[in-house]
Amino acid sequence: MISKRKFMAVSTAIFITGAAPGFSQSTPSLKDAFKKDFGIGTALNNAQIEERDPQMTAFIARQFNMATPENIMKSALIHPKWDTYDFSMGDKLIEFGKKHNIKINGHTLIWHSQLPPFIRGIHSQDSIRSFFTDHIKTVAGHYKGKVFSWDVVNEALNEDGTLRKSVFLQYLGDNYITDAFRLAQEASPGTELYYNDYNNEQPAKRAGCIALIKKVKEAGVRIDGVGIQGHWHVGKLPLKDIEESIIQYAALGMKVMITELDIDVLPRNFQGADVSQRMTANEQSNPYAAGLPDTVQQQLAADYEALFNLLLKHKDKVTRVTFWGVNDGNSWLNNWPIRGRTNYPLLFDRANQPKPAFEKVIAATK
Ligand code: G3I
Repeated sequence: MISKRKFMAVSTAIFITGAAPGFSQSTPSLKDAFKKDFGIGTALNNAQIEERDPQMTAFIARQFNMATPENIMKSALIHPKWDTYDFSMGDKLIEFGKKHNIKINGHTLIWHSQLPPFIRGIHSQDSIRSFFTDHIKTVAGHYKGKVFSWDVVNEALNEDGTLRKSVFLQYLGDNYITDAFRLAQEASPGTELYYNDYNNEQPAKRAGCIALIKKVKEAGVRIDGVGIQGHWHVGKLPLKDIEESIIQYAALGMKVMITELDIDVLPRNFQGADVSQRMTANEQSNPYAAGLPDTVQQQLAADYEALFNLLLKHKDKVTRVTFWGVNDGNSWLNNWPIRGRTNYPLLFDRANQPKPAFEKVIAATK
């Protein structure tokens, strides 16, 4: 028999690391349940890519058929110095995908955030242009035939639909998005190419996203799909806007994906996923450290149910749904917009056990 002390130690370790103990083989598999509808993906962190926990590896392989690296393909990590690229973790991810029959979505080629520090010292258009061109050619070229798709450009829009004043817009002008897709297409012709953003189901940002897609297409450059990240908040899912967006993006010939799905249950005073936005902690900001109240658990389940019913209604247009993390313990929402909180945004708890939301999502397929 396991002693109480040992049990506490094990459960604490699970809580802290998000490591997975055994999981039941009788738990249905998401990827199998949605086999005829759309792909089911997850974001993967370093520990998962390196298969440090065999039970976690088995769990991922059973539940998901697509994956996005949570951080390791971002430019700061894959291109740390002007003429140095580090493909070590990305290559491990490709091997992980091959071994477990999981398609990899590269994330991301051009993003204003998590840029390599050397960019800060560059103030000439020529140098930004050569960084931009070399980065896309080298990274997309390295993974040619190895990744299924790329988030070519990430989060280029402001909430009002105008273009974000990123270093790329400032130095390269408003054709940089089209240029990015053109370069990605040349470097990796067989790969699907997407634009990805948060809040782009909201009408103003959606209009900006539609204009962006049209501009790329009108230049004769290929763009295959659009990712609606899907960082939403419990009890406030914008279902009408999501539906309208799926319809409008699909009408442009885009594959539509929910690419970073999670439903935040903690207090927050703004929407979206701008990583530079932060909140100050106070006594009310981490209310569920000891566990999620049933009312919130049920609301979370109802939100997931309504969302998947909607996505299934449009399964002819939706090609993939990716969760931003495997289980609640892995979620970035434990550390944003306030560090060290206890969040519950996904379908599996910190021990990889299915939550009521998981049961609802599986039931939606029946
Ligand atoms: O690796 C360093 C570690 O060496 C250091 O000790 C530690 C101290 O803070 O930081 C570690 O880096 C962290 C990194 O995640 C890896 O864990 C960064 O601080 C942290 O900011 C970073 O957060 C990531 C965030 O993007 C940064 O932009 C999240 O994990 C990741 O989930 C999040 O993902 C983004 C998508 O790419 C784009 N859409 C929004 C989404 C959520 O923000």
